[in-house]
Parts: sequence; C-alpha cells; structure tokens
Amino acid sequence: MKRRDFVRTGLAAGAVSALPGTLLAQEEIYQRTPRDAEGPFYPVGSRSNDQSDMLATMQTQRGDILYLNGTVTDVYGAPVVGALVDLWQTDPGGRYRHPSDTSPGERYEDFAYWGKATTSEDGRFSFRTYVPGAYAPRPAHIHYKVFRDNRPVLTSQIYFRELGGTKGHSFSRQNEDLLVTSLVQIKPDTFETDFRVVI
Ligand SMILES: [Fe+2]
Repeated sequence: MKRRDFVRTGLAAGAVSALPGTLLAQEEIYQRTPRDAEGPFYPVGSRSNDQSDMLATMQTQRGDILYLNGTVTDVYGAPVVGALVDLWQTDPGGRYRHPSDTSPGERYEDFAYWGKATTSEDGRFSFRTYVPGAYAPRPAHIHYKVFRDNRPVLTSQIYFRELGGTKGHSFSRQNEDLLVTSLVQIKPDTFETDFRVVI
C-alpha cells in the first residue's frame, strides 16, 4: 500500500487522531506541471555561459528585461533543493540561436539564448533574461527542462497571459492554468514573473 493510500484509508476509518501529523501533511496539494513539447531548438554545441542564470547582460539592453523567478516543489509543496533548471528561448525578435532556426535576422551577440540555474534551499531559481518574442504561429514561450540527480524529470514550456497564453494549443483548461504565468511590470522596460514548477 502506498503511503498516500494509507493516509486516505486511515481518514476513511475515522482514525485521524491516531495518525501522526506528519503523515496528514503528505496529502498532495499541487498538480504536477504538465509536460510540453521539447521542440527542435534545444541547445546544441558548446554553451558559452553553461552554468549562468544571466542570459541578458547588464551592459546592453535590446528589449524588455524579464526576471523569471520560480520555485520547484513536489506535489506536497515541499521545495526541491538542488534541481537544475535548464532553459532556452527566443530573443525579443522571436529567433533562436540554433542551426535549425533559419529565420532571417541578426542574432543578439550579447544574449545567451539559454541558461541554467540550480534551486536554492527553498527551491527557488531566478533568471535574468529578455521577454521572449513570438514566432509564427506560436505565442511567446520559454522552454525548459528540470533535472534531478542529473536525470531529466520534466520538459515543458512557460507561456505568458499577456502574450497570448497558450493560444493555438489544445491543453485542457486546468493544464493551461499550470503552464501560463503573468508578467508584472516593475519598470517601463522591465518585467518579472513568479512561476511554480511541480515535479
Ligand atoms: Fe519554441
């Protein structure tokens, strides 16, 4: 019997007072973040900033800055410490730096297009990047993978309510809510968001 089943069986039998509080706290409170397509533009070759969470440099700015903050938790809400968030995205013009992206336009030399962050003791991560540009026919989005103990445990995408959400996709309403976040403007050219990833 799984531990969760044990808890529920105990509750059904009216055995609440006999159960340690730690077991009751193990009820699932979050739905796992839905998987989403990896797409054709996962970074290949060497990454100049392989371990950096700073995709857009502080020296130059060629679009709206996005502080992409988040938390990785399990389904019980407990922070996942030491998870690796591996992220890749378009520049503000909607272009990837990838050999398979043949769309015209100069790539941003001072933009990394990808980055990595390891979650802290409270499961937090943060990237400094650009608000991504859209490319037809997709709404703006950011791709990411999460690794635990060097194993990939989730591949998904982040969408933005103010940039069309998951328009054109066929996610259920519930999954859509789990994939979409909101941009909060903190300066004329700077936004932030806070996104929960549940693995
Ligand atoms: Fe994409």
